Amino acid sequence: MKGFMPENNNCDCETQGFPLIGDQFPEISIHSTHGRLNLPEDLKGHWTVLFSHPADFTPVCTTEFVSFAKHAKDFKEINTQLIGLSIDQVFSHLKWTEWIKEKLDVEIPFPIIADSTGRMGKQLGMIHEKAGSDTVRAVFIMDPEAKIRLILYYPQEIGRNMKEILRAVKALQLSAKEKAAVPANWPENELVGDHVIVPPANTEAEAAKRRGKKDCYDWWLCHREMSK
Ligand code: BEZ
Repeated sequence: MKGFMPENNNCDCETQGFPLIGDQFPEISIHSTHGRLNLPEDLKGHWTVLFSHPADFTPVCTTEFVSFAKHAKDFKEINTQLIGLSIDQVFSHLKWTEWIKEKLDVEIPFPIIADSTGRMGKQLGMIHEKAGSDTVRAVFIMDPEAKIRLILYYPQEIGRNMKEILRAVKALQLSAKEKAAVPANWPENELVGDHVIVPPANTEAEAAKRRGKKDCYDWWLCHREMSK
C-alpha cells in the first residue's frame, strides 16, 4: 500500500541483529508442544500471533495463557493462529498446561515452542539483556506470506491485553483490504469514528483537491468509510 507500507521485503536481520517490521520471518525449525514447527512454512496461509512469555508456572504468564486460550476462537474466526514461546523445556510446558487444565479448567489449544537454548528468542530479539535472561513478553504478528507486520514488547511485570492484540490483527487485515491506514482506538476513534485514514496526498494537485473537502480536516488528514 503505497504511502503507508514499507516496500522492501528483504530481511536485514544480519545487519540489524534481528528481524523487524517488513522483514520475512526467518527460517527456524523448532520443537513445540504440538511437535516440530518449520518456520516460516508453517506460518503461510494464515495470520499468526507468535508471543513469548518469561516462564512457565508464573502468575502473570498464567493469566495471559488463560486469556489467550479464552480468545483463541476469536483469533481463529479471523484466520489467525496462536503460537506461544519461552525458554522452558517442552516437559515444563506440558506440565504447566496440564496444571492449567486441571486447576482452572482451561484447555490451551495452541502450540508452545520450547526454546530451551534461547536461540530462537535471541534471533528474534525477544531476550532483552537488562530485563534478564528469559524472553520478555514479545508479540510478533505475521501476515499469510510470513512477513512480520507488527511487534510489541511488554515487560515481565505487565500482562498483555488480548483485545488489543485481536484489534491489531483486525486492523492489519482491514488496512490491507481497504488500502488505507487505521486510526488510534479504531473502531472508536475520537476524530473519525470507525472510518479509515486515506493515504496522504503526494502531489500539489492532490493536496489542493483535498482542501476543504468533506471528511478532510486538512489535505493531509482525510478519512473515509470502510467499504461494505
Ligand atoms: C509472572 O508473573 O508472569 C512472572 C513472575 C516472575 C518472573 C517471570 C514472570
